[in-house]
Amino acid sequence: MLISRGGTCARALLLLSTRMAASSISSNLIAPASASRRIHGSKPFSAQLLSYPPFLSRASLFSSHASVHSNKVHKKSNSRVAALLEIGGVKIAKDDVVRESDPTNNVPDNIFSKIGLQLHRRDNHPIGILKNAIYEYFDTSYSSMFVKFDDLCPIVSVQQNFDEVLVPADHVSRSYNDTYYVDAGTVLRCHTSAHQAELLRAGHSHFLVTGDVYRRDSIDSTHYPVFHQMEGVRVFSPNEWEVSSTDATSYAATNLKKCLEGLARHLFGAVEMRWVDTYFPFTNPSFELEIYFQEKWMEVLGCGVTEQEILNRNGRKDSVAWAFGLGLERLAMVLFDIPDIRLFWSTDQRLTSQFSAGKLGVKFKPFSKFPPCYKDISFWISDSFTENNLCEVVRGIAGDLVEEVKLIDNFTNKKGMTSHCYRIAFRSMERSLTDEEINQLQWSIRETVQTKLHVTLR
Ligand SMILES: *[C@@H]1O[C@H](CO)[C@@H](O)[C@H](O)[C@H]1NC(C)=O
Ligand SMILES: *[C@@H]1O[C@H](CO)[C@@H](O)[C@H](O)[C@H]1NC(C)=O
Repeated sequence: MLISRGGTCARALLLLSTRMAASSISSNLIAPASASRRIHGSKPFSAQLLSYPPFLSRASLFSSHASVHSNKVHKKSNSRVAALLEIGGVKIAKDDVVRESDPTNNVPDNIFSKIGLQLHRRDNHPIGILKNAIYEYFDTSYSSMFVKFDDLCPIVSVQQNFDEVLVPADHVSRSYNDTYYVDAGTVLRCHTSAHQAELLRAGHSHFLVTGDVYRRDSIDSTHYPVFHQMEGVRVFSPNEWEVSSTDATSYAATNLKKCLEGLARHLFGAVEMRWVDTYFPFTNPSFELEIYFQEKWMEVLGCGVTEQEILNRNGRKDSVAWAFGLGLERLAMVLFDIPDIRLFWSTDQRLTSQFSAGKLGVKFKPFSKFPPCYKDISFWISDSFTENNLCEVVRGIAGDLVEEVKLIDNFTNKKGMTSHCYRIAFRSMERSLTDEEINQLQWSIRETVQTKLHVTLR
């Protein structure tokens, strides 16, 4: 049965509580994901927000073989054919999520088509292999104390995604430029932290949440509008820190660092690590863990001591907690040597056959290299123009055939008109593209950019 938009979320929550009860028996762990545009303390607010997790985000379907539990297509009785997904027991119809005529909705078809693919639940996919390796660390080190969630519906309320994790009302991450809105009060979650508060309210004190997250973003080898994060939360009660000689916050911070250093060693071996202070709206103090890998410092995750306000509001006034988030694509790209984030979504056998359950860190062998083809597009921008909007148009037309969109020229003339020239790199990971095909894509991009983005082509 289809459910209305409003119903989607309410229903999701109901199912969530039922499912939580069931899943606590099985496994657990959480990890926050990463945010991509983050930046240490000085960056613009917007950048910081999302960031637990990382930047890299997205992946493609390596595995057509893995479980294909979602994306079943049903025929609607009213004669229109619509995709009907089922995630964690919640049914979602395409027109619940994509409504072009609704100005409060900015979810395109190509994003809808990723909902329910759940790369993190495929045991033979690098994202699933990595998730399982992290689970293994937590199960072993904490005797399966962490409850694991990996099937929570990615359609959440603005309240869950932002308010409940204390994202300020004017934070840029809330903008239509950065986040996919289903309607004014509903979004595709932009981080797994969206589930923190509800799980705390449900009484969980050790949990891991893994899921697909969605962000409007630029296009290059490490950014994709859908990626995967893992979030972890651990709550302590007073008797735990009272026997130590430290205060609650230091106790939690020390415990957190020890836990995550162990995780980094579990994944990367005996690496050099360092902690960097940072800022997140939901933790204080906040840190990033970096490891020295392939001759440079690489950020692995964001974390911190949970803001007391979050605990107070969710029935844990006397507790202290830590939380962390990590981006699975970014780590998987390093661990498996995967050079382009689009590869995670590829169903090419030459790729999918290289990965199998339990084999963390098998290095990807490129099966062929196809030449890129570059096309430039120049236009006078309007006030409302943003690069993310351009990238949405380009992805909507060229999909994963587009490798990068890059600003190569930018000037303002005497009349105050600003011109941008973008270079679009087209390259398939799987085959050679023909000139004709690329010309057609570029033609279509030019047309759509002009009509949808209100710019004037030059
Ligand atoms: C849109 O978001 C991108 C980051 O994804 C940011 O760099 C850019 O400044 C934003 N533009 C506006 C107008 O908010
Ligand atoms: C365009 O150039 C101006 C000045 O050279 C610079 O301030 C501005 O940030 C540039 N815009 C973008 C989108 O890079």
